[in-house]
Amino acid sequence: MSDSITLQYSWLAKFFHWFTLLLLIAQIPMGFILVRLDFSDLRITIENIHVIVGISIFYITLFRLIYKFFSKSPKLMPEAFFGQNLIAKLNHFALYVALLTITTSGILKKLFNGEKLNFFIFKLRIEDNFDLADQFYNVHVISNYTLIVLISLHILAVLFHQIFLKENILKRMTR
Ligand code: HEM
Ligand code: HEM
Repeated sequence: MSDSITLQYSWLAKFFHWFTLLLLIAQIPMGFILVRLDFSDLRITIENIHVIVGISIFYITLFRLIYKFFSKSPKLMPEAFFGQNLIAKLNHFALYVALLTITTSGILKKLFNGEKLNFFIFKLRIEDNFDLADQFYNVHVISNYTLIVLISLHILAVLFHQIFLKENILKRMTR
């Protein structure tokens, strides 16, 4: 077994990765439930939780990217076919972009609605602009479907490594 197969992500990289997955498992269905509810106390509560979880994902993604920039990620597996590592890098890059797009579009939708947002360390309110709020909401919906497709491809790639290439890459992110 070559070194690059046994190289591990750090415990912090693993924590960011699996904690984000855990939050997304709650966050994506919460969004779909939210838009199907009529105005009520329950809707307000679910929206508040959705916003808190969303802003947490935004911060985690920022910390994760800063950490990735200053630390050394383990090398990818040796290529089984030409361009394989480029595809993996593009998938990882697109996942980060989708996470940032979905969170910032949600934040901007709320802000341009004229609502005060609590960013945990400060609160912000800006002048409303309902046209922009609608446009950022469209971005929110599109980036959500993009994220779901990218996560599906990401999981299929892990299965592909496992089943067809007989490489257990999951252990790089777990053990
Ligand atoms: C990774 C993070 C996030 C995910 C996966 C996510 C996902 C979703 C989804 C699936 C919907 C329903 C879309 C539809 O089909 O119409 C939604 C709606 C919504 N999201 Fe997010 N969201 C995230 C972050 C945020 C953030 C950070 C905010 C605001 C700070 C936010 C605010 C909203 C609001 C206000 C709605 C409902 C709009 C309405 O109809 O009133 N989201 N989100
Ligand atoms: C069941 C779900 C998931 C599994 C089994 C999984 C598995 C993995 C594995 C094995 C790696 C290491 C790949 C390698 O270096 O060879 C990885 C990396 C990565 N995963 Fe996932 N993942 C899952 C969900 C997610 C989700 C939901 C996201 C983000 C939305 C995500 C984003 C990433 C990113 C960005 C990397 C690259 C890490 C880096 O280099 O910074 N993963 N994943």
